[in-house]
Amino acid sequence: MTKHKVRSPRSPEPPRTASIVGTGSYTPSRVLTNADLEKIVDTSDEWIVTRTGIRERRIAAPNEATSDMATKAGAAALEQAGIKAEEVDLLIVATVSPDMWFPSTACFVQRKLGAKNATCFDISAACAGFLYGLETAQQFITSRTKNTALVIGADKLSALVDWTDRNTCVLFGDGAGAAVLRNRGDVHGLLVTTMGSDGTQTDILQIPVGGSAAPLTSANINDRMNTIKMSGREVFKHAVNAMVRAAFEALEHCGLTPDDIACVIPHQANMRIIEAVGERIKVPIDRFYVNLDKYGNTSAAAVAIALDEANRTGRIRKGDYVLLVVFGGGLTWASSVIQW
Ligand code: ACO
Repeated sequence: MTKHKVRSPRSPEPPRTASIVGTGSYTPSRVLTNADLEKIVDTSDEWIVTRTGIRERRIAAPNEATSDMATKAGAAALEQAGIKAEEVDLLIVATVSPDMWFPSTACFVQRKLGAKNATCFDISAACAGFLYGLETAQQFITSRTKNTALVIGADKLSALVDWTDRNTCVLFGDGAGAAVLRNRGDVHGLLVTTMGSDGTQTDILQIPVGGSAAPLTSANINDRMNTIKMSGREVFKHAVNAMVRAAFEALEHCGLTPDDIACVIPHQANMRIIEAVGERIKVPIDRFYVNLDKYGNTSAAAVAIALDEANRTGRIRKGDYVLLVVFGGGLTWASSVIQW
């Protein structure tokens, strides 16, 4: 049960902020290149690279679940932060490829990490899930309900893809990324996260079958209706508009302009989407962190893996303003400004 602290009005505590104090990521060792895909479906390296920018992606082993990848990313983030698993009191996993319908993937990660004091739950917001998770953790920390949050974005979309459908199977990959959040006090940390959703567009990106609306049958499995279905062009259009709007909203909320941003870390779905967003928010492409050529679209993990790489390679430094901007099925979108 959550215990709420009763505070005396005569001794107000200073306002709290939430800062990222450690990041981690994990991608499986198996590499699937565009040349490998040429042997599976009617496609070409040239088509995939020019339309998406993706050159290869990582594929989890058959016995490697989303929680296994999430646990490795989470452990790396805790190690960097110098925080023990038992100190985590909030554990959130953003995913659309949970190990099972229930228990939550976060509960599996709790067991594997030994984070025995954590409250655990999953967030379903597709590719926007990691930022939804960051904002949720920030709310718990600033309200003093929780102190140490581990937020993980993890997806194994290779288990949900129709490997006979060239429209989708070339786009996705597997992986996990994580961040540890705490009240740090000395810097601002997470300045703002703006989020939005549009349920009128549920049809353009979904897995139609396998939930309560249409339980699995041998007929619908035969028709591969339990795999990702996407109207690529529609998704593309909405992605650019929503990401641009979210980025401007987040910047405006902090009183910043695009020129103040040292690094933009976008959802890693398609290079053309990233370039279109860059043009519209007037940030040169060399200020974007991009790794989709190596991993494809890893859904909720994508921005988290990119954040970890940018952090570990020194691409973002203390004091920098970093803009995260994401988009996913739902539709869902979000943008965060972090002072690193
Ligand atoms: N190889 C070769 N040809 C292909 C392939 C392929 N892998 N896939 C599609 N084509 C063909 C199509 O069949 C079509 O042929 P036709 O003209 O004979 O019908 C042609 O290429 C053009 O297809 P389009 O769909 O118009 O191609 P487009 O330029 O829009 O690119 C793409 C498709 C890459 C999917 C693009 O629309 C896109 O990136 N959309 C956004 C996808 C996305 O970001 N999804 C995930 C975001 S949210 C989340 O991650 C959960």
